Amino acid sequence: MEKLLVQGGTSLQGRVKISGSKNAALAILPGAILAGGKVKLDNLPDITDVHILLRILEDLGVSVRRRGRNQVELNSSRLRKGHTPSPELVKKIRASYYLMGSLLARFGRAEVPIPGGCDLGPRPIDQHLKGFAALGARINTEHGLVKLEAERLRGARIYLDVVSVGATVNLMLAAVAAEGTTILENVAKEPEIVDLANYLNAIGASVRGAGTDVIRIEGVSSFKGAEHCIIPDRIEAGTFMLAAAATGGDVVVEEVIPKHLEAVTAKLVEAGAQVTVEPEKIRVQAKGPLSPVDLKTFPYPGFPTDLQPLGMILLTAASGTSIVTENVFDGRFAHVPELKKMGARIKVEGRTAVVEGGTQLTGAPVTVPDLRAGAALLVAGLMARGETIINGMELINRGYENIDQKLTALGAQLKRLRERSYIGLPRFVG
Ligand code: EPZ
Repeated sequence: MEKLLVQGGTSLQGRVKISGSKNAALAILPGAILAGGKVKLDNLPDITDVHILLRILEDLGVSVRRRGRNQVELNSSRLRKGHTPSPELVKKIRASYYLMGSLLARFGRAEVPIPGGCDLGPRPIDQHLKGFAALGARINTEHGLVKLEAERLRGARIYLDVVSVGATVNLMLAAVAAEGTTILENVAKEPEIVDLANYLNAIGASVRGAGTDVIRIEGVSSFKGAEHCIIPDRIEAGTFMLAAAATGGDVVVEEVIPKHLEAVTAKLVEAGAQVTVEPEKIRVQAKGPLSPVDLKTFPYPGFPTDLQPLGMILLTAASGTSIVTENVFDGRFAHVPELKKMGARIKVEGRTAVVEGGTQLTGAPVTVPDLRAGAALLVAGLMARGETIINGMELINRGYENIDQKLTALGAQLKRLRERSYIGLPRFVG
């Protein structure tokens, strides 16, 4: 388990360049299986989940050529039919289930192990399977494998019972090669869905309406290669914006799309932070103590569930009581027991957490339960008095490119610990 020592009492100051979107990249990479020629992706985030997905694609027979840290060239023209991606790799990331849609579209069959990923409570894939069946696929789930087969995918009208990013992505990947028209309704509207649609149209698909409740797809029979630049990661940007406010700092996040961050900006302004928005950057300054606010997560364009843990640690320092309501996932409060070790006063009732403000967090050894909770615990360590040991940095590195280097450049005092050097809570050695 990778450990990081965090010196508390730091307010973040400076500018940080935001990397490409993890969740756009993880949706677009499986789309390389559909392309009929070379695909060049730029602004690819250099994160573990992307590395794993690239290894899965290579394992399937896609040629993968890294062109520098944030650029890759893929070619799936020599891909052989019906390979099953390696279970041990697939189980490492949830996004591997996007191979269902892309392999089904390319070969008419797919065999993908049930995915792993962050434990955020039950994460069923019933909407994905309902959509694949509507497109004409026969589905068999046994021995932990999802087997899908279809002589020919046929367009259908599919209404999602739940607004699901994953189901929207998976069904887009399948429907672009289905015969005729597919109408996807009650779909996710996240910017990552729009980015995937732009990529798919670049390789020759016909996808209209991404970013709205209804996506209309006219199936095509052949695809070409393309070049595509991944959009900036709004969750990474929001992480640094909330961290700036939580640490009483002054940070400019650069190379962002402010439109994607409107819910975060609005909530920071409501809490009393000063936010300055320019075409490709946002500055967040926290002059005095923030006011308590009620935080509710919703699918885009609502406040993102992925930033709920960070919003919560911000509110521990507000000048009063706040209510946090998690409306997207059932079990997304795993960070609360860890925050309580640092002195946070939070009471959880179902999907609601009551956060007492005015708390001075104190450093402690904490364990990362999932990616976004881990980022929140790291920021809590910056806010705290004393030193914090983050156990499980590898989970944070799944979704944040060089987060320790980026935070250090903003004034954080961090130190990666090797296993042997950890004997309790050592003096900070700088
Ligand atoms: C994607 O997960 C993201 N992951 C998550 O980010 C993000 O939190 C989530 O969307 C919501 O925005 C990737 O893009 C790789 P959902 P996903 O399907 O697709 C229920 C991160 O840290 N549901 O939109 O798994 C589900 O249980 C990760 O970057 C069904 O009931 O989320 C949940 O309650 C964490 N049936 C809700 O819908 C289904 O078939 C939203 O889930 C599918 C989903």
